[in-house]
Amino acid sequence: MAAAARTARMASRLAAMPRPAIARAGARSITQRAAFSVSAGRMKSEVIKETEVPVSVYNPDAKGVASGNSDHFSIPIKPGSRAPAPIEEEEDAVSPLQEKVYSQMPRTLQRMTVMGKVIIITGGARGLGNNMARACAEAGAKAIAIFDANQELGDESAAELHQKTGLPVSFFKVDVRDGNAINAAVQNVVDVYGTPDVLVNSAGIADSNIKAETYDPAMFRRLIDINLTGSFLMSQAVGRAMMAAGKPGSIVLVASMSGTVVNYPQEQSCYNASKAGVIQLGKSLAAEWAKYNIRVNCISPGYMDTALNKVPALDAQKKIWKSLTPQERLGAVDDLNGLCVFLASDASGYMTGSNVIIDGGYTLY
Ligand SMILES: NC(=O)c1ccc[n+]([C@@H]2O[C@H](COP(=O)([O-])OP(=O)(O)OC[C@H]3O[C@@H](n4cnc5c(N)ncnc54)[C@H](O)[C@@H]3O)[C@@H](O)[C@H]2O)c1
Repeated sequence: MAAAARTARMASRLAAMPRPAIARAGARSITQRAAFSVSAGRMKSEVIKETEVPVSVYNPDAKGVASGNSDHFSIPIKPGSRAPAPIEEEEDAVSPLQEKVYSQMPRTLQRMTVMGKVIIITGGARGLGNNMARACAEAGAKAIAIFDANQELGDESAAELHQKTGLPVSFFKVDVRDGNAINAAVQNVVDVYGTPDVLVNSAGIADSNIKAETYDPAMFRRLIDINLTGSFLMSQAVGRAMMAAGKPGSIVLVASMSGTVVNYPQEQSCYNASKAGVIQLGKSLAAEWAKYNIRVNCISPGYMDTALNKVPALDAQKKIWKSLTPQERLGAVDDLNGLCVFLASDASGYMTGSNVIIDGGYTLY
């Protein structure tokens, strides 16, 4: 009863008050009962619009700082002024890291490059593999070898990468199911460029919207052969070359979030199983080969906007994929680049056997 009377008294007092006074007097009780509405109200009234930005500079070159004083001043704000527009690069440009720039970089950034490394990239003719090849070229690779089953595209992309960067780039028309061809091609890389430091295995195919009960076993075997056996044969050939030379190395296997979660709504048991196999293969090789200083890690992308998914039959499903992705988009073709360079570089020296999911948040739900 006493509480009800107090509430009624408070309500009549508040009704008689001018607005700001209501805000002050009511603040404590409202905070107790409905904190969110209070902060929302405050945010609306607190539009910050300063006319200048006070700055303090502690810099040996700044006036007065050498004598122990800092430099204090204010920058006027022009109404409506914006950050300067970023310098526009030619969209398709690939700028290799110059030796001179590298030598001036701080040690942390130097370790995040692939300066001087020989890099083999499978599936580098197009899509994610091609973009990772470009990223490695920009990050300092000494030479790049593209292994791909597509003669025309592979040759074209190698010529283009060389023409854009001036770097030595070779294309090997190799099917990742063909162990002998892989061994011959890897030996040629060793002979021409030296032992590879890095393998990025991006070659792969996808079958989806096939129910398990009607899956053709021959198709199933083919996909496993390309995605899983291919990852093994490539790792084996490059790993052996690294061991023979006593050279540390990094192997990056492109798996998929499908190796960890089951995609929705399409049925694709074989693809999912193949990528789970790639992840476990990566962990097993990492454990076995740590003693040779060979690191093995996986990148597991979510849905990426590549030719692999540019199929009209998938248009309706893409809307569902986006709606289930917190970032509400598919990954761009270059969204793996930073992670690829990091895993290839010495900056990830203590990382092996990891599987890094890069999916715009898809697997969070
Ligand atoms: N695109 C996605 O949404 C997505 C998502 C997760 C994982 N991945 C994986 O990323 C990798 C690259 O995918 P992408 O989207 O760039 O595909 P993509 O089809 O654009 O490129 C794949 C490349 O691999 C080559 N390739 C295919 N079979 C081969 C074989 N037997 N031997 C040698 N080369 C072969 C192709 O010629 C092609 O150049 C694949 O392993 C794929 O499973 C893709």
